Amino acid sequence: MFLCCWLALVALIPTTVSINPGVKVKLTEKGLEYGRDLGMATIQQKLKTIKVPDMSGEQRVSPIGKVHYSLTNMHIVNVGLPKSAVDLVPGTGVRLSITNAFISLQGNWRVKYLRIIKDSGSFDLNVNGLTITSSIAIKSDETGRPAVSSVNCAATVSKASIKFHGGASWLYNLFSKFIDKALRNALQNKICPLVADAISDLNPHLKTLNVLAKVDPYAEIEYSMVSSPTVSKSSIDFSLKGEFYNIGKHQEPPFSPKPFTLAPQINNMLYIGVSAFTTNSAAFVYNKAGALSLAITDDMIPQSSPIRLNTRTFGAFIPQIAKRFPGLMMKLLVKTVKDPIITFETNNMTVQAIGTVTAYAIQPNATLSPLFVLNMDTSVSARVYVSGVKLAGAVTLNKMDLTLGTSYVGDFQVGSLDNILQMVLKVVVIPKLNVQLAKGYPLPTLGKMKLVNTQLQVLKDYMLIGTDVQFTG
Ligand SMILES: *[C@@H]1O[C@H](CO)[C@@H](O)[C@H](O)[C@H]1NC(C)=O
Ligand SMILES: *[C@@H]1O[C@H](CO)[C@@H](O)[C@H](O)[C@H]1NC(C)=O
Repeated sequence: MFLCCWLALVALIPTTVSINPGVKVKLTEKGLEYGRDLGMATIQQKLKTIKVPDMSGEQRVSPIGKVHYSLTNMHIVNVGLPKSAVDLVPGTGVRLSITNAFISLQGNWRVKYLRIIKDSGSFDLNVNGLTITSSIAIKSDETGRPAVSSVNCAATVSKASIKFHGGASWLYNLFSKFIDKALRNALQNKICPLVADAISDLNPHLKTLNVLAKVDPYAEIEYSMVSSPTVSKSSIDFSLKGEFYNIGKHQEPPFSPKPFTLAPQINNMLYIGVSAFTTNSAAFVYNKAGALSLAITDDMIPQSSPIRLNTRTFGAFIPQIAKRFPGLMMKLLVKTVKDPIITFETNNMTVQAIGTVTAYAIQPNATLSPLFVLNMDTSVSARVYVSGVKLAGAVTLNKMDLTLGTSYVGDFQVGSLDNILQMVLKVVVIPKLNVQLAKGYPLPTLGKMKLVNTQLQVLKDYMLIGTDVQFTG
């Protein structure tokens, strides 16, 4: 089973050389408890659907002799599952134990004896001290989503009591000697298949894992599992691909995920570790797609700014510009020339971007005359946060270094443009970038999952999101 899934996964992503995950998800005991609460409601519903077939037979009861009996129309009126526990079984899965459960059932009885005497009525059966144990295995399916199954199950009924309505007292003997066991067996045999059903019913929910989460017209994130989940003493750990791809053609970046370990924490239900690999794969995708570029014109500079994008402003620093292109508006094209590099240090996420700024004068006939190209090495600090079920961010400028790439207007002092270009970054480029970053990037989610009590820490080489979850409908 494992081999076939693994082969299927490899077939889906043939270019992968490494199976280190980019994103890790840890389900803690607290998360498992929440899962148990949801699961018990399902199991209870299932057990209410138990159908006990009609029973009939003949028994010799003294002093009456041969009695023909039949029990019909048996139906469950109540199921109580007051006590249950889920335990992690390292290397295997989860063990579910339900104890002290009870089932009440109603039905009709009918007896015939001494050839001609008939009697009938109804009865209530209470089954108490019911114990159900089931082992749940958790695997990766062929699409890289988790799948669960009940691998073994046992149900035992410790005692049953019956109350006949309208019968003679000897009916109790008939019941306790002969019918009790048959009825208990019939019930016991019904329980495990229904528990297995309730466990399988989780799979449609698990199939909602967004293994390919669309982000925007450029990118999607792959969240399929790269290996089967692992079960330890205190958690179930999922290894997800966590890689941004260009929509459509999936091209691998020239780097691969490095192993990382989630800091051991237990207070939240779920911990999601997003590695530097994941964010750097985003930088790779957006840079390759040419999405990290911006053409800046004067109308994008706030009205209040005394600095305008025209040859008069730039001419104050580079007189040749004012002389050769008098009275013209200008345009700046800012773009990255390499994949930006994102680094995570404790409480510090930094993005290093190397790009160019090309300045043009806009001729009256709209032709662009190039003035110069500057190389720009920028460092920004990023603040990341969780918004809904998305990861969002905002950046601020740390520093910017300019060097001359090409000049079409003769020599000039690049340093004299520092202030203008810092202003352009701060009031135009970074706010635009932050609008994009605030839209957020989908986290791995199941169905209509809500995140509550969420916090995010930036640690060395990854960020750690601790959160509780709520499922609504
Ligand atoms: C964050 O890290 C970068 C380098 O990775 C460093 O230049 C910067 O000073 C750090 N910032 C803080 C606030 O520690
Ligand atoms: C636009 O104007 C410039 C400067 O006057 C001139 O050099 C260029 O040939 C013109 N281009 C077109 C397409 O008219």
